[in-house]
Amino acid sequence: MSEPLDLIVIGAGPGGYVAAIRAAQLGLKTVCVEKEPSLGGTCLNVGCIPSKALLHSTHLLEMAQTEMASHGIRCSGVGVDIDAMMQRKNRIITHLTGGIDFLFKKNKITRIRGTATLTAPDTVTVADDAGITQTLKGKNILIATGSVPASIPGFSFDGHHVIDSTNALSLSGVPERLAIIGGGVIGLELGTVWRRLGSSVTIIEATDNILPGMDGELRRMASRIFKKQGLHLRPSTLATEMAVTDHAVTLTLKSGEGPTDTLTIDKVLVAVGRVPSTGSLGLDHLGIAMDPRGFIRVDNHYRTNIPGILAIGDVIGGPMLAHKAEEEGIVAVERLTGQGGQVHRERIPGVVYTNPEIATVGPTEESLKHTGVDYRVGRFPFSANSRARSMDQTDGFVKILADPVSDRILAAHIIGPQAGDLIAEAVLAMESDLAAEDLARTCHSHPSLSETVREAALAVDGRALHM
Ligand code: NAI
Repeated sequence: MSEPLDLIVIGAGPGGYVAAIRAAQLGLKTVCVEKEPSLGGTCLNVGCIPSKALLHSTHLLEMAQTEMASHGIRCSGVGVDIDAMMQRKNRIITHLTGGIDFLFKKNKITRIRGTATLTAPDTVTVADDAGITQTLKGKNILIATGSVPASIPGFSFDGHHVIDSTNALSLSGVPERLAIIGGGVIGLELGTVWRRLGSSVTIIEATDNILPGMDGELRRMASRIFKKQGLHLRPSTLATEMAVTDHAVTLTLKSGEGPTDTLTIDKVLVAVGRVPSTGSLGLDHLGIAMDPRGFIRVDNHYRTNIPGILAIGDVIGGPMLAHKAEEEGIVAVERLTGQGGQVHRERIPGVVYTNPEIATVGPTEESLKHTGVDYRVGRFPFSANSRARSMDQTDGFVKILADPVSDRILAAHIIGPQAGDLIAEAVLAMESDLAAEDLARTCHSHPSLSETVREAALAVDGRALHM
Protein backbone atom coordinates (compact mmCIF):
# COMPACT_ATOMS: atom_id res chain seq x y z
CA MET A 1 0.00 0.00 0.00
CA SER A 2 1.57 3.28 -1.03
CA GLU A 3 -0.52 5.82 0.97
CA PRO A 4 -0.36 5.16 4.72
CA LEU A 5 -3.72 4.40 6.27
CA ASP A 6 -5.21 6.87 8.73
CA LEU A 7 -5.98 4.13 11.25
CA ILE A 8 -5.16 0.46 11.71
CA VAL A 9 -7.38 -1.15 14.34
CA ILE A 10 -6.09 -4.43 15.76
CA GLY A 11 -8.94 -6.57 17.06
CA ALA A 12 -12.59 -6.62 15.99
CA GLY A 13 -14.29 -7.04 19.36
CA PRO A 14 -16.82 -4.44 20.54
CA GLY A 15 -13.97 -2.00 21.27
CA GLY A 16 -12.18 -2.42 17.93
CA TYR A 17 -15.08 -2.77 15.52
CA VAL A 18 -16.99 0.18 16.99
CA ALA A 19 -13.81 2.32 16.91
CA ALA A 20 -13.35 1.36 13.24
CA ILE A 21 -16.93 2.38 12.41
CA ARG A 22 -16.60 5.71 14.26
CA ALA A 23 -13.27 6.36 12.51
CA ALA A 24 -14.84 5.69 9.13
CA GLN A 25 -17.74 8.02 9.99
CA LEU A 26 -15.17 10.70 10.73
CA GLY A 27 -13.57 10.22 7.33
CA LEU A 28 -10.50 8.23 8.38
CA LYS A 29 -9.22 5.59 5.98
CA THR A 30 -9.47 2.58 8.27
CA VAL A 31 -8.41 -1.06 8.26
CA CYS A 32 -9.33 -3.59 10.95
CA VAL A 33 -7.15 -6.67 11.50
CA GLU A 34 -8.72 -9.71 13.18
CA LYS A 35 -7.20 -13.17 13.59
CA GLU A 36 -10.45 -15.09 14.05
CA PRO A 37 -12.67 -15.98 11.09
CA SER A 38 -15.66 -14.06 12.44
CA LEU A 39 -15.78 -10.50 13.69
CA GLY A 40 -17.14 -9.45 17.10
CA GLY A 41 -14.42 -10.73 19.43
CA THR A 42 -15.08 -12.47 22.74
CA CYS A 43 -18.40 -10.67 23.29
CA LEU A 44 -20.18 -11.93 20.20
CA ASN A 45 -18.43 -15.26 19.67
CA VAL A 46 -17.62 -16.71 23.10
CA GLY A 47 -18.89 -14.29 25.73
CA CYS A 48 -21.81 -11.93 26.27
CA ILE A 49 -24.03 -13.04 23.39
CA PRO A 50 -23.80 -16.85 23.57
CA SER A 51 -24.13 -16.74 27.36
CA LYS A 52 -27.25 -14.58 27.10
CA ALA A 53 -28.69 -16.92 24.47
CA LEU A 54 -28.21 -19.91 26.78
CA LEU A 55 -29.45 -17.97 29.81
CA HIS A 56 -32.65 -17.15 27.94
CA SER A 57 -33.21 -20.71 26.69
CA THR A 58 -32.64 -22.20 30.13
CA HIS A 59 -34.83 -19.54 31.75
CA LEU A 60 -37.70 -20.72 29.54
CA LEU A 61 -36.95 -24.30 30.56
CA GLU A 62 -37.08 -23.37 34.24
CA MET A 63 -40.31 -21.45 33.71
CA ALA A 64 -41.87 -24.47 32.05
CA GLN A 65 -40.67 -26.78 34.81
CA THR A 66 -41.49 -24.68 37.85
CA GLU A 67 -43.52 -21.54 37.21
CA MET A 68 -45.99 -22.09 34.39
CA ALA A 69 -48.33 -24.16 36.55
CA SER A 70 -48.99 -21.21 38.86
CA HIS A 71 -50.13 -19.22 35.78
CA GLY A 72 -52.61 -21.96 34.97
CA ILE A 73 -50.51 -23.20 32.09
CA ARG A 74 -50.01 -26.94 31.99
CA CYS A 75 -46.72 -28.15 30.51
CA SER A 76 -46.08 -31.81 30.06
CA GLY A 77 -43.25 -33.67 28.42
CA VAL A 78 -40.82 -30.80 28.94
CA GLY A 79 -37.32 -31.90 27.97
CA VAL A 80 -34.05 -30.55 26.66
CA ASP A 81 -32.51 -31.00 23.21
CA ILE A 82 -29.05 -29.65 23.94
CA ASP A 83 -27.99 -29.81 20.27
CA ALA A 84 -30.94 -27.67 19.24
CA MET A 85 -30.24 -25.23 22.08
CA MET A 86 -26.60 -24.89 20.99
CA GLN A 87 -27.60 -24.53 17.33
CA ARG A 88 -29.97 -21.70 18.21
CA LYS A 89 -27.14 -20.00 20.11
CA ASN A 90 -24.81 -20.48 17.11
CA ARG A 91 -27.38 -19.02 14.72
CA ILE A 92 -27.58 -15.88 16.86
CA ILE A 93 -23.79 -15.56 16.79
CA THR A 94 -23.67 -16.03 13.00
CA HIS A 95 -26.39 -13.45 12.51
CA LEU A 96 -24.74 -10.83 14.69
CA THR A 97 -21.15 -11.35 13.52
CA GLY A 98 -22.42 -11.21 9.93
CA GLY A 99 -23.99 -7.90 10.87
CA ILE A 100 -20.54 -6.48 11.62
CA ASP A 101 -19.29 -7.61 8.18
CA PHE A 102 -22.23 -5.70 6.73
CA LEU A 103 -21.42 -2.59 8.80
CA PHE A 104 -17.77 -2.75 7.71
CA LYS A 105 -18.79 -2.88 4.05
CA LYS A 106 -21.31 -0.10 4.53
CA ASN A 107 -18.65 2.11 6.13
CA LYS A 108 -15.93 1.09 3.64
CA ILE A 109 -13.72 -0.42 6.32
CA THR A 110 -11.25 -2.99 5.02
CA ARG A 111 -11.13 -6.15 7.12
CA ILE A 112 -7.88 -8.12 7.06
CA ARG A 113 -7.78 -11.64 8.46
CA GLY A 114 -4.60 -12.56 10.33
CA THR A 115 -2.46 -12.08 13.41
CA ALA A 116 -1.00 -8.59 13.77
CA THR A 117 2.44 -7.72 15.10
CA LEU A 118 3.70 -4.18 15.57
CA THR A 119 7.06 -4.04 13.84
CA ALA A 120 7.59 -0.25 13.98
CA PRO A 121 5.59 2.64 15.49
CA ASP A 122 3.75 3.03 12.16
CA THR A 123 3.90 -0.53 10.86
CA VAL A 124 1.82 -3.62 11.41
CA THR A 125 2.73 -7.00 9.94
CA VAL A 126 -0.18 -9.38 9.49
CA ALA A 127 0.36 -13.14 9.16
CA ASP A 128 -2.47 -15.32 7.92
CA ASP A 129 -3.06 -18.97 8.90
CA ALA A 130 -0.75 -20.13 6.08
CA GLY A 131 2.04 -17.87 7.40
CA ILE A 132 1.80 -15.45 4.47
CA THR A 133 2.49 -11.92 5.68
CA GLN A 134 1.56 -8.46 4.53
CA THR A 135 2.72 -5.11 5.86
CA LEU A 136 0.45 -2.18 6.64
CA LYS A 137 1.58 1.38 7.26
CA GLY A 138 -0.65 3.62 9.35
CA LYS A 139 -0.56 7.14 10.76
CA ASN A 140 -2.26 5.71 13.85
CA ILE A 141 -2.61 2.21 15.28
CA LEU A 142 -5.29 1.29 17.81
CA ILE A 143 -4.74 -1.85 19.90
CA ALA A 144 -8.04 -3.45 20.90
CA THR A 145 -7.03 -7.06 21.39
CA GLY A 146 -9.11 -7.73 24.51
CA SER A 147 -8.41 -10.41 27.09
CA VAL A 148 -8.29 -14.17 27.63
CA PRO A 149 -9.38 -16.30 30.62
CA ALA A 150 -6.92 -16.27 33.53
CA SER A 151 -5.69 -19.64 34.75
CA ILE A 152 -4.56 -20.69 38.20
CA PRO A 153 -1.50 -22.79 38.98
CA GLY A 154 -2.30 -26.48 39.18
CA PHE A 155 -5.52 -26.13 37.18
CA SER A 156 -4.34 -25.95 33.56
CA PHE A 157 -7.14 -25.86 31.01
CA ASP A 158 -7.46 -29.12 29.07
CA GLY A 159 -10.84 -28.35 27.49
CA HIS A 160 -12.28 -31.55 28.94
CA HIS A 161 -11.96 -31.82 32.71
CA VAL A 162 -10.70 -28.30 33.36
CA ILE A 163 -12.58 -25.88 31.17
CA ASP A 164 -12.77 -22.15 30.55
CA SER A 165 -15.83 -20.02 29.76
CA THR A 166 -15.46 -20.67 26.02
CA ASN A 167 -15.67 -24.45 26.55
CA ALA A 168 -18.55 -24.01 29.03
CA LEU A 169 -20.64 -22.32 26.31
CA SER A 170 -20.41 -25.31 24.01
CA LEU A 171 -20.58 -28.49 26.09
CA SER A 172 -22.23 -31.30 24.13
CA GLY A 173 -23.81 -32.88 27.21
CA VAL A 174 -24.88 -31.87 30.70
CA PRO A 175 -22.20 -32.69 33.31
CA GLU A 176 -23.77 -34.38 36.32
CA ARG A 177 -21.51 -32.45 38.71
CA LEU A 178 -19.85 -29.15 37.82
CA ALA A 179 -17.53 -27.15 40.06
CA ILE A 180 -16.79 -23.53 39.25
CA ILE A 181 -13.77 -21.80 40.71
CA GLY A 182 -14.69 -18.11 41.02
CA GLY A 183 -18.00 -16.65 42.20
CA GLY A 184 -17.87 -13.66 39.85
CA VAL A 185 -19.97 -12.78 36.84
CA ILE A 186 -19.01 -15.77 34.68
CA GLY A 187 -19.30 -18.23 37.56
CA LEU A 188 -22.83 -17.11 38.36
CA GLU A 189 -24.11 -16.78 34.80
CA LEU A 190 -22.73 -20.08 33.53
CA GLY A 191 -23.40 -21.78 36.85
CA THR A 192 -27.05 -20.76 36.41
CA VAL A 193 -27.16 -22.11 32.84
CA TRP A 194 -25.82 -25.55 33.78
CA ARG A 195 -27.82 -25.78 37.03
CA ARG A 196 -31.00 -25.18 35.05
CA LEU A 197 -29.95 -27.89 32.60
CA GLY A 198 -29.61 -30.34 35.47
CA SER A 199 -26.00 -30.16 36.74
CA SER A 200 -25.25 -30.09 40.44
CA VAL A 201 -23.20 -26.87 40.50
CA THR A 202 -20.78 -25.90 43.29
CA ILE A 203 -19.25 -22.43 43.19
CA ILE A 204 -15.95 -22.06 45.03
CA GLU A 205 -15.21 -18.43 45.89
CA ALA A 206 -12.04 -17.20 47.60
CA THR A 207 -13.60 -14.14 49.26
CA ASP A 208 -16.31 -14.10 51.92
CA ASN A 209 -19.19 -13.92 49.44
CA ILE A 210 -19.97 -14.07 45.73
CA LEU A 211 -19.56 -10.98 43.52
CA PRO A 212 -16.77 -9.23 45.43
CA GLY A 213 -16.61 -5.54 44.57
CA MET A 214 -20.39 -5.17 44.43
CA ASP A 215 -22.55 -3.49 47.05
CA GLY A 216 -22.81 -5.63 50.21
CA GLU A 217 -26.63 -5.65 50.39
CA LEU A 218 -26.83 -6.82 46.78
CA ARG A 219 -24.30 -9.58 47.42
CA ARG A 220 -26.13 -10.83 50.49
CA MET A 221 -29.50 -10.96 48.75
CA ALA A 222 -27.98 -12.52 45.61
CA SER A 223 -26.34 -15.23 47.67
CA ARG A 224 -29.63 -16.06 49.44
CA ILE A 225 -31.53 -16.24 46.16
CA PHE A 226 -28.94 -18.34 44.32
CA LYS A 227 -28.75 -20.81 47.22
CA LYS A 228 -32.55 -21.12 47.14
CA GLN A 229 -32.35 -21.79 43.41
CA GLY A 230 -30.00 -24.69 44.11
CA LEU A 231 -26.48 -23.39 43.50
CA HIS A 232 -24.08 -24.75 46.12
CA LEU A 233 -22.00 -21.77 47.25
CA ARG A 234 -18.67 -22.26 49.01
CA PRO A 235 -17.42 -18.77 50.02
CA SER A 236 -14.06 -18.21 51.74
CA THR A 237 -12.81 -21.37 50.04
CA LEU A 238 -9.81 -22.13 47.88
CA ALA A 239 -9.33 -25.10 45.58
CA THR A 240 -5.74 -26.04 46.37
CA GLU A 241 -5.19 -29.25 44.42
CA MET A 242 -6.78 -31.38 41.76
CA ALA A 243 -6.55 -35.06 40.85
CA VAL A 244 -7.95 -36.17 37.49
CA THR A 245 -8.98 -39.72 36.73
CA ASP A 246 -10.61 -40.95 33.51
CA HIS A 247 -14.07 -40.27 34.78
CA ALA A 248 -13.84 -37.54 37.40
CA VAL A 249 -11.91 -34.72 39.00
CA THR A 250 -11.31 -34.57 42.74
CA LEU A 251 -10.65 -31.11 44.15
CA THR A 252 -9.05 -30.45 47.51
CA LEU A 253 -10.78 -27.52 49.17
CA LYS A 254 -9.57 -25.36 52.02
CA SER A 255 -12.08 -23.16 53.83
CA GLY A 256 -10.64 -20.61 56.27
CA GLU A 257 -8.85 -22.22 59.18
CA GLY A 258 -10.88 -25.44 58.92
CA PRO A 259 -9.55 -28.80 57.76
CA THR A 260 -9.37 -29.55 54.03
CA ASP A 261 -12.14 -31.50 52.36
CA THR A 262 -12.61 -32.90 48.89
CA LEU A 263 -15.18 -32.51 46.16
CA THR A 264 -15.52 -34.97 43.29
CA ILE A 265 -17.04 -33.61 40.10
CA ASP A 266 -17.10 -34.29 36.37
CA LYS A 267 -15.77 -30.94 35.21
CA VAL A 268 -14.30 -27.83 36.77
CA LEU A 269 -14.80 -24.42 35.16
CA VAL A 270 -12.11 -21.92 36.12
CA ALA A 271 -13.60 -18.39 36.07
CA VAL A 272 -11.22 -16.29 38.13
CA GLY A 273 -11.02 -13.25 35.88
CA ARG A 274 -9.30 -12.45 32.60
CA VAL A 275 -5.85 -11.25 31.59
CA PRO A 276 -4.89 -8.84 28.78
CA SER A 277 -4.30 -10.45 25.40
CA THR A 278 -1.10 -8.91 24.08
CA GLY A 279 1.06 -11.98 23.39
CA SER A 280 1.60 -11.71 19.64
CA LEU A 281 1.75 -7.92 19.37
CA GLY A 282 5.47 -7.41 19.94
CA LEU A 283 4.93 -4.69 22.55
CA ASP A 284 8.28 -5.30 24.29
CA HIS A 285 10.12 -4.87 21.03
CA LEU A 286 8.64 -1.37 20.60
CA GLY A 287 8.99 -0.49 24.28
CA ILE A 288 5.27 0.08 24.86
CA ALA A 289 4.79 0.72 28.58
CA MET A 290 2.74 -1.81 30.53
CA ASP A 291 1.83 -2.07 34.19
CA PRO A 292 3.06 -4.99 36.34
CA ARG A 293 -0.09 -7.00 35.48
CA GLY A 294 0.53 -6.67 31.74
CA PHE A 295 -2.10 -4.02 30.98
CA ILE A 296 -1.00 -1.38 28.46
CA ARG A 297 -0.59 2.05 30.03
CA VAL A 298 -2.43 4.92 28.33
CA ASP A 299 -3.15 8.58 29.02
CA ASN A 300 -6.66 10.03 28.98
CA HIS A 301 -6.55 10.25 25.18
CA TYR A 302 -5.88 6.45 25.16
CA ARG A 303 -2.36 7.14 23.80
CA THR A 304 0.45 4.80 24.76
CA ASN A 305 3.96 6.12 25.38
CA ILE A 306 4.74 5.54 21.67
CA PRO A 307 3.37 8.37 19.47
CA GLY A 308 0.68 7.15 17.08
CA ILE A 309 -0.12 3.98 19.03
CA LEU A 310 -3.33 3.91 21.07
CA ALA A 311 -5.03 1.22 23.14
CA ILE A 312 -8.55 0.70 24.50
CA GLY A 313 -10.74 -1.93 26.17
CA ASP A 314 -9.67 -4.95 28.22
CA VAL A 315 -5.97 -4.53 27.31
CA ILE A 316 -5.78 -1.28 29.29
CA GLY A 317 -7.50 -2.59 32.44
CA GLY A 318 -10.53 -1.34 34.36
CA PRO A 319 -13.88 -3.09 34.10
CA MET A 320 -13.61 -5.78 31.42
CA LEU A 321 -16.89 -4.98 29.75
CA ALA A 322 -17.92 -4.71 26.11
CA HIS A 323 -19.68 -1.39 26.60
CA LYS A 324 -16.67 0.12 28.37
CA ALA A 325 -14.45 -0.90 25.43
CA GLU A 326 -16.96 0.57 22.98
CA GLU A 327 -17.04 3.93 24.73
CA GLU A 328 -13.25 4.05 24.92
CA GLY A 329 -12.94 3.18 21.22
CA ILE A 330 -15.29 5.98 20.25
CA VAL A 331 -13.53 8.54 22.45
CA ALA A 332 -10.03 7.47 21.35
CA VAL A 333 -10.95 7.97 17.69
CA GLU A 334 -12.84 11.20 18.29
CA ARG A 335 -9.88 12.65 20.14
CA LEU A 336 -7.62 11.70 17.24
CA THR A 337 -9.73 13.97 15.08
CA GLY A 338 -9.77 16.82 17.57
CA GLN A 339 -13.13 16.10 19.14
CA GLY A 340 -13.61 15.95 22.89
CA GLY A 341 -15.49 12.87 24.07
CA GLN A 342 -14.88 11.49 27.55
CA VAL A 343 -15.47 8.20 29.38
CA HIS A 344 -16.35 8.36 33.08
CA ARG A 345 -15.24 5.01 34.44
CA GLU A 346 -17.24 5.42 37.63
CA ARG A 347 -20.39 5.75 35.55
CA ILE A 348 -20.00 2.51 33.62
CA PRO A 349 -22.78 0.10 34.57
CA GLY A 350 -22.19 -3.57 35.27
CA VAL A 351 -24.84 -6.26 34.91
CA VAL A 352 -25.09 -9.92 35.89
CA TYR A 353 -27.74 -11.59 33.73
CA THR A 354 -28.99 -14.12 36.22
CA ASN A 355 -32.59 -14.30 37.41
CA PRO A 356 -33.06 -11.90 39.05
CA GLU A 357 -30.64 -9.64 37.22
CA ILE A 358 -28.12 -7.62 39.18
CA ALA A 359 -27.06 -4.19 37.96
CA THR A 360 -24.90 -1.55 39.44
CA VAL A 361 -23.37 1.85 38.68
CA GLY A 362 -21.15 3.98 40.89
CA PRO A 363 -19.50 3.24 44.20
CA THR A 364 -20.83 0.74 46.73
CA GLU A 365 -22.22 1.94 50.06
CA GLU A 366 -19.20 0.28 51.73
CA SER A 367 -16.73 2.26 49.62
CA LEU A 368 -18.52 5.57 50.32
CA LYS A 369 -18.27 4.79 54.03
CA HIS A 370 -14.64 3.77 53.66
CA THR A 371 -13.69 6.99 51.85
CA GLY A 372 -15.71 9.16 54.28
CA VAL A 373 -18.19 10.38 51.66
CA ASP A 374 -21.55 11.37 53.19
CA TYR A 375 -24.65 10.02 51.52
CA ARG A 376 -28.37 9.41 51.90
CA VAL A 377 -29.87 6.13 50.81
CA GLY A 378 -33.26 5.34 49.28
CA ARG A 379 -34.46 1.76 48.86
CA PHE A 380 -37.54 0.32 47.26
CA PRO A 381 -38.46 -3.38 47.08
CA PHE A 382 -39.88 -5.03 43.96
CA SER A 383 -42.45 -6.72 46.23
CA ALA A 384 -44.21 -3.32 46.48
CA ASN A 385 -44.31 -2.80 42.69
CA SER A 386 -47.51 -3.81 40.93
CA ARG A 387 -45.85 -4.84 37.66
CA ALA A 388 -43.30 -7.05 39.47
CA ARG A 389 -46.18 -8.56 41.45
CA SER A 390 -48.14 -9.30 38.25
CA MET A 391 -45.02 -11.00 36.86
CA ASP A 392 -44.44 -13.01 40.08
CA GLN A 393 -40.95 -11.50 40.22
CA THR A 394 -40.90 -9.75 43.55
CA ASP A 395 -37.41 -10.65 44.80
CA GLY A 396 -35.03 -7.71 45.02
CA PHE A 397 -34.82 -3.96 45.45
CA VAL A 398 -33.55 -0.71 43.98
CA LYS A 399 -31.10 1.26 46.09
CA ILE A 400 -30.06 4.81 45.27
CA LEU A 401 -27.25 6.64 47.04
CA ALA A 402 -27.30 10.43 46.86
CA ASP A 403 -25.30 13.35 48.18
CA PRO A 404 -26.98 14.64 51.38
CA VAL A 405 -26.45 18.30 50.46
CA SER A 406 -26.77 18.56 46.67
CA ASP A 407 -28.97 15.44 46.36
CA ARG A 408 -26.82 14.47 43.31
CA ILE A 409 -27.06 10.74 42.57
CA LEU A 410 -23.82 9.00 43.51
CA ALA A 411 -24.70 5.38 42.74
CA ALA A 412 -27.51 2.94 42.04
CA HIS A 413 -27.59 -0.78 42.86
CA ILE A 414 -30.43 -2.98 41.67
CA ILE A 415 -31.26 -6.64 42.08
CA GLY A 416 -34.55 -7.64 40.52
CA PRO A 417 -36.41 -8.22 37.26
CA GLN A 418 -34.84 -6.41 34.27
CA ALA A 419 -32.32 -4.67 36.50
CA GLY A 420 -29.97 -4.57 33.50
CA ASP A 421 -32.38 -2.27 31.65
CA LEU A 422 -33.54 -0.28 34.68
CA ILE A 423 -29.97 0.75 35.49
CA ALA A 424 -29.82 2.82 32.26
CA GLU A 425 -32.00 5.51 33.83
CA ALA A 426 -29.62 5.84 36.76
CA VAL A 427 -26.60 5.99 34.43
CA LEU A 428 -28.21 8.77 32.41
CA ALA A 429 -29.10 10.62 35.60
CA MET A 430 -25.51 10.35 36.84
CA GLU A 431 -24.04 11.38 33.47
CA SER A 432 -26.33 14.42 33.60
CA ASP A 433 -25.46 15.21 37.23
CA LEU A 434 -29.12 14.90 38.20
CA ALA A 435 -30.43 14.87 41.75
CA ALA A 436 -32.59 12.11 43.26
CA GLU A 437 -35.37 14.73 43.29
CA ASP A 438 -35.14 14.94 39.47
CA LEU A 439 -35.87 11.22 39.17
CA ALA A 440 -38.56 11.48 41.82
CA ARG A 441 -40.33 14.24 39.85
CA THR A 442 -40.10 12.42 36.51
CA CYS A 443 -43.33 10.77 35.45
CA HIS A 444 -42.84 6.99 35.09
CA SER A 445 -45.44 4.91 33.28
CA HIS A 446 -47.72 2.70 35.31
CA PRO A 447 -47.66 -0.18 35.78
CA SER A 448 -43.95 -0.57 35.04
CA LEU A 449 -40.85 -1.87 36.75
CA SER A 450 -39.32 1.57 36.21
CA GLU A 451 -41.56 2.91 38.97
CA THR A 452 -39.22 1.18 41.45
CA VAL A 453 -36.44 3.58 40.40
CA ARG A 454 -38.66 6.59 40.99
CA GLU A 455 -39.80 5.20 44.34
CA ALA A 456 -36.19 4.59 45.44
CA ALA A 457 -35.42 8.20 44.45
CA LEU A 458 -38.39 9.36 46.56
CA ALA A 459 -37.16 7.15 49.39
CA VAL A 460 -33.87 9.11 49.45
CA ASP A 461 -35.99 11.91 50.92
CA GLY A 462 -38.05 9.52 53.06
CA ARG A 463 -41.20 9.92 50.96
CA ALA A 464 -41.68 6.74 48.95
CA LEU A 465 -45.37 6.48 48.13
CA HIS A 466 -46.01 2.75 48.03
CA MET A 467 -44.02 1.59 51.02
P1 NAI B 1 -14.67 -11.82 37.97
O1 NAI B 1 -13.56 -10.91 38.24
O2 NAI B 1 -16.05 -11.30 37.78
O3 NAI B 1 -14.77 -12.92 39.13
C1 NAI B 1 -13.71 -13.75 39.47
C2 NAI B 1 -14.01 -14.31 40.84
O4 NAI B 1 -13.06 -15.31 41.14
C3 NAI B 1 -13.93 -13.29 41.95
O5 NAI B 1 -15.09 -13.42 42.73
C4 NAI B 1 -12.68 -13.69 42.73
O6 NAI B 1 -12.74 -13.39 44.09
C5 NAI B 1 -12.66 -15.18 42.49
N1 NAI B 1 -11.34 -15.84 42.58
C6 NAI B 1 -10.17 -15.40 42.10
N2 NAI B 1 -9.19 -16.33 42.33
C7 NAI B 1 -9.79 -17.38 42.96
C8 NAI B 1 -9.36 -18.64 43.45
N3 NAI B 1 -8.08 -19.03 43.29
N4 NAI B 1 -10.25 -19.45 44.04
C9 NAI B 1 -11.55 -19.07 44.18
N5 NAI B 1 -12.02 -17.90 43.75
C10 NAI B 1 -11.16 -17.06 43.13
O7 NAI B 1 -14.19 -12.67 36.69
P2 NAI B 1 -14.97 -13.65 35.74
O8 NAI B 1 -16.25 -14.09 36.32
O9 NAI B 1 -13.97 -14.68 35.34
O10 NAI B 1 -15.29 -12.73 34.50
C11 NAI B 1 -14.21 -12.17 33.76
C12 NAI B 1 -14.57 -10.83 33.19
O11 NAI B 1 -15.58 -10.97 32.22
C13 NAI B 1 -15.08 -9.91 34.28
O12 NAI B 1 -14.36 -8.72 34.23
C14 NAI B 1 -16.50 -9.67 33.92
O13 NAI B 1 -16.91 -8.35 34.18
C15 NAI B 1 -16.58 -10.01 32.44
N6 NAI B 1 -17.89 -10.57 32.17
C16 NAI B 1 -18.96 -9.74 32.14
C17 NAI B 1 -20.22 -10.25 31.96
C18 NAI B 1 -21.37 -9.32 31.97
O14 NAI B 1 -21.19 -8.12 31.81
N7 NAI B 1 -22.59 -9.79 32.21
C19 NAI B 1 -20.46 -11.68 31.79
C20 NAI B 1 -19.28 -12.45 31.92
C21 NAI B 1 -18.04 -11.90 32.09
